[in-house]
Amino acid sequence: MKPKVLITRPTPQNILARVGAGCEVDSNQEDRPLTRDEIMTRLDGCAGILCHLTDRIDSSVMERAPSLKVIANVAVGYDNIDVASATRLGIMVTNTPDVLTDTTADFAFALLLATARRLVEADQFVRTGQWKEWRFDLLLGTDVHHSTLGIIGLGRIGSAVARRGRGFGMKILYSMPQRADVEVERELGATYVDQATLLSESDFVSVHAPLKAETRHLIGARELALMKPSAILINTARGPVVDETALVEALQSGRIAGAGLDVFEQEPRVHPELVEFPNVVLAPHIASASRQTRLRMMEVAAENLIAGVCGGVPPNVVNREVAERNSKPA
Ligand code: GLV
Repeated sequence: MKPKVLITRPTPQNILARVGAGCEVDSNQEDRPLTRDEIMTRLDGCAGILCHLTDRIDSSVMERAPSLKVIANVAVGYDNIDVASATRLGIMVTNTPDVLTDTTADFAFALLLATARRLVEADQFVRTGQWKEWRFDLLLGTDVHHSTLGIIGLGRIGSAVARRGRGFGMKILYSMPQRADVEVERELGATYVDQATLLSESDFVSVHAPLKAETRHLIGARELALMKPSAILINTARGPVVDETALVEALQSGRIAGAGLDVFEQEPRVHPELVEFPNVVLAPHIASASRQTRLRMMEVAAENLIAGVCGGVPPNVVNREVAERNSKPA
C-alpha cells in the first residue's frame, strides 16, 4: 500500500505527479490555507505532510497524527513547526535550504537599494503626475556604495548579502553568536564585531537571524537607539526578530532613517503606522519568490517528503537525531 501524504496548498502538476508516483496524495486544491481543524482531520492516516510557513504544525496537530513520519516545510525557516515536539514524537522535520539563498539575498539587496534611493517614492511621484520639472534636489537619497553594511547572522543568506555588498564596495561587518571561520571572513571581507558595534557603525543593518525564542525582538528599542540616525534597517528574516512597535517609534522620532521590510510580526497584518512612512519600503514576504526558486523549493520539499515516507533519510532533515534514531537497528 502506498503511504498517504497531505499537501496543504495548490502545487504544480509535475510535483504532484512525482509525489503521486510513490504516495497516495491528498492535495488541497483551493487557493486558501487549510484551517488547523482541516489539517488535523486530513492528516488522519498520513505518513507525511508537505506544508508551508502559514501552516502551524504544533504538538497537538502532531499528536493527532500517530502515523506521521515527516513534515516537509516548503521554506528554509521552520518556526511554524514545533520541532522539539516533532523530535519527541519521532517525526522528521525538513526544510529547503540553499535553493533560495541567492534569490533571497537579491531581494534583501533590492529592498536596501529601494529604501536608500527612494525608489518607491520616485515611482509614485512619476505615476501620480507630480513630476513637473527636473530639480537638482529632487528625491535625494543616500549612497549605498562604499558605505558600511552590518549583517546580523552570517549564515547562507547573510553571506550571500555580504557578497552583494562587496560588489558595491561596502565595508562588511557581521555579528552572530558564533564567529564564522577565518576563511569565510576572508572570502567575504567581513569583520566580526559585537552587535552593539555593528549597530552603531553600520549605514545599513540587514537581519538574517532565524526566529527562535532567543532571537524574538533581537532588534528592539535599545538596539534601534544604537543605530545611526542616518541608518536603514532591512529585514528579510522573520517579522518577530524585530520589535515592530519599537521600530515604529524609532521611525517616528527619526532615530533611524528608514526600513525595508519583507516580513512582519503578525503576517499578513502590517502595523498600521508602518504603511504611513514614505521612508519604509514594504513587501508581502516575497524574498524567495522568483518563479525558478519557488519551483526548486517545491522540488526539494517533495524530495524530502518522498524520502521521509519511504523510510529513507531526507536530504534536509533539521532534527537529524530523529533520522539517526530511526535508522538504528532495533
Ligand atoms: C521564507 O521565508 C523561507 O523561510 O523560506
